[in-house]
Amino acid sequence: MNFQLSHRAKAIKSSPTLTVSTLAKKMKSEGIDVINFGVGEPDFNTPDYIKEAGKKAIDDNFTRYTDSSGIIELRKAIAAKLKKDNNLDYNPEEILVSPGAKASLINILLAVCDLRDEVIIPSPYWVSYTSQVNMVDALPILLETGPANNFKIKARHLEEVILNLSNPKALIINSPNNPTGSVYTRKELQKIAEVCLKYNILIISDEIYEKLIYDGLEHVSIASISKEVKESTIVINGVSKAFAMTGWRLGYAAGLRQIIKSAGRIQSHTTSCVNSMTQKAALVAITENDGSIEKMRKEFEKRRNFLVSEFNKIDNIKCNIPEGAFYAMPNISYYLHHNTRKIKNSIDFCEYLLKENHIAIVPGSAFGADNYVRFSYANSMENIKEGLKRFETGLKSLSK
Ligand SMILES: Cc1ncc(COP(=O)(O)O)c(C=O)c1O
Repeated sequence: MNFQLSHRAKAIKSSPTLTVSTLAKKMKSEGIDVINFGVGEPDFNTPDYIKEAGKKAIDDNFTRYTDSSGIIELRKAIAAKLKKDNNLDYNPEEILVSPGAKASLINILLAVCDLRDEVIIPSPYWVSYTSQVNMVDALPILLETGPANNFKIKARHLEEVILNLSNPKALIINSPNNPTGSVYTRKELQKIAEVCLKYNILIISDEIYEKLIYDGLEHVSIASISKEVKESTIVINGVSKAFAMTGWRLGYAAGLRQIIKSAGRIQSHTTSCVNSMTQKAALVAITENDGSIEKMRKEFEKRRNFLVSEFNKIDNIKCNIPEGAFYAMPNISYYLHHNTRKIKNSIDFCEYLLKENHIAIVPGSAFGADNYVRFSYANSMENIKEGLKRFETGLKSLSK
């Protein structure tokens, strides 16, 4: 059969992280003790009170299709959460519950993007943004950021980029950020929002790491800047990261009824709904609190403080302090230029550390930042300490 894949399928490149993670899995299966810093999920278990709600839903035979946009109690609870935490007023018709924030994002992109619409993505970026924008036949436009502004975009730069585009449609902003950990202040968001309003750009605000924020900083949803900004924003959030519920699959989008309704119609023809017991578990996660969320956050903060201060003691390694999420992104460019192993890029670098020192980290090229690598500190303190030793040993022998 002369079979041709779609242009869409061909445009999706396999993730550069795959080489390293496949190799790490193979080494683990061979009994090699690999410390994995690649994971993008909390290492904690889902808190018991949430698990109980999921089990109860099964016992109560709450196991059938639900309203495609999510059960009404959950959408009401999300509306109450958005009011309480973010000072945002939505009604349940303005909320769509999807199988993960990832699904929320693609539903929204499918609802708003036409062929060759331009979607602005600050770089370094979470890898699925560019892939999803490609999948909906729109064009990802990368907006470079750097350590000097803690990897945050500036309104002035955003405006310059917009002025050079033909069909600017949306900006995806992610605070706290994966992979950089940066957190935008209200003032910074205000300026960015002003530019978006001026040029009629839809803001897609991914706030999935909202609860993982450090140094007493406040998470600000860009939608809360003003009524007009709220009407130009779709807020994306979910339960994966805050409640250690990555495998349950539940995220949500909140925004203009017209967009949410269209995204909901798309979802009704694809995944139908989020599995029913997960919706019951998420309802409890969002409405109750046994203190475990804050305990996890504090533990992440402790690990971040240790990891980043240790990185900055290592010769020729520089690491900005991430203010949220659970990733640290040290700059490794010195070692790309000074090594005895013909290492030229972050993929070679990560492969070397995996093979020689048995630590798995993610090459920065996966996020559009080849001078960096990403460590996830969703890992025990013991592993972080041992991993750091291995990292330093690896660097020493690299430059010998
Ligand atoms: C920035 C960002 N947004 C969204 C997601 C997806 O979250 P979910 O598990 O809800 O699909 C992730 C997961 O890694 C993420 O890092």
